[in-house]
Amino acid sequence: MRILVTGGAGYIGSHTVVELLDNNYDVVVVDNFSNSKPIVIDRIKEITGKDFKFYELDVCDKEKLKVVFKENKIDAVIHFAGYKAVGESVSKPLMYYRNNIDSTLTLLEVMNEFNVKKIVFSSSATVYGNPEELPIKETSKLWTTNPYGTTKLYIEGILKDVYNADNDYSIAILRYFNPVGAHKSGLIGENPNGIPNNLVPYIVKVAKRELDHLNIFGNDYDTLDGTGVRDYIHITDLAKGHISALRYITNNKGIDYYNLGTGHGYSVMEMVNTFEKVNHVEIPYEIAPRRSGDIATCFADTNYAKERLGWRAELGLNDMLESAYNYAKKNE
Ligand code: WQD
Repeated sequence: MRILVTGGAGYIGSHTVVELLDNNYDVVVVDNFSNSKPIVIDRIKEITGKDFKFYELDVCDKEKLKVVFKENKIDAVIHFAGYKAVGESVSKPLMYYRNNIDSTLTLLEVMNEFNVKKIVFSSSATVYGNPEELPIKETSKLWTTNPYGTTKLYIEGILKDVYNADNDYSIAILRYFNPVGAHKSGLIGENPNGIPNNLVPYIVKVAKRELDHLNIFGNDYDTLDGTGVRDYIHITDLAKGHISALRYITNNKGIDYYNLGTGHGYSVMEMVNTFEKVNHVEIPYEIAPRRSGDIATCFADTNYAKERLGWRAELGLNDMLESAYNYAKKNE
């Protein structure tokens, strides 16, 4: 089978391409390097010892995307390409709506033209907003608190309508919780541009003494130690979840939604303490005011992904944090 991966040079995309190649899929990657670097393509080939076709393009460019489908018989698509910074989406909503939705509509139109009807979509736990119930189920209430999350919710709706219009489609919508860590080789990992918004890349920069200290956004939440609790999942487990979803849609038509998390929440303080323990490095921190839009606690009910896809996260917090630092040290 030949799989088109949009955004395949990105953090989650690159780890998924490695798993695809390791599972003997043919892969075609498209990426415009808006939030990734060309070296990642070489690193994927180095890790897997396998080659694959790459096109540098913006998924919004329909003519260029059609060339990819003309030159390669695509059997299924995994769609990662999109902007994903929550804070940036609040200050630049139109950029997020234009890019994330336009690229998806363009992709779906070209897929339709070439009769490609299998897609795995990169969604997010942000579609659950501030959860009313914990753990969060796929049937939990959907509402969003930022434009980034809203683009994901809108795209989920577009995919539902596409399926309703043509039941020959096979669609898996994956709602990620908090992806962290890096491939065990240390050759690919999370390398955000500028000052990281997310916790673990920020801690890594403090560990490398590129940033002075971590600001812990609030310690007065209703949690075990007052700091925010999230469901952190190892990027390799997350990537493997895409393989499981791809296998399922290869043999089953329909549309379905899956939480990809571990089912366990860790607080910010637990993350700091564990990072220090496994990496033998001190992480200075200060308690800062809460970050607007943050919620106290978020973690997944992962039973449906296990039951339907036969997938469950296997790697623990030590692996997540050790691999994150290992990658950072190898990529000064
Ligand atoms: C985790 C915890 C913060 C930074 C994000 C986005 C989205 C999604 C998952 C894609 C929270 C605290 C953080 C810092 C801190 N990805 N924190 N100091 O906000 O749960 O979700 O990632 O869909 O990108 O929704 O992740 O890593 O920003 O925050 O104290 O410098 O760490 O308050 O409790 P978040 P995060």
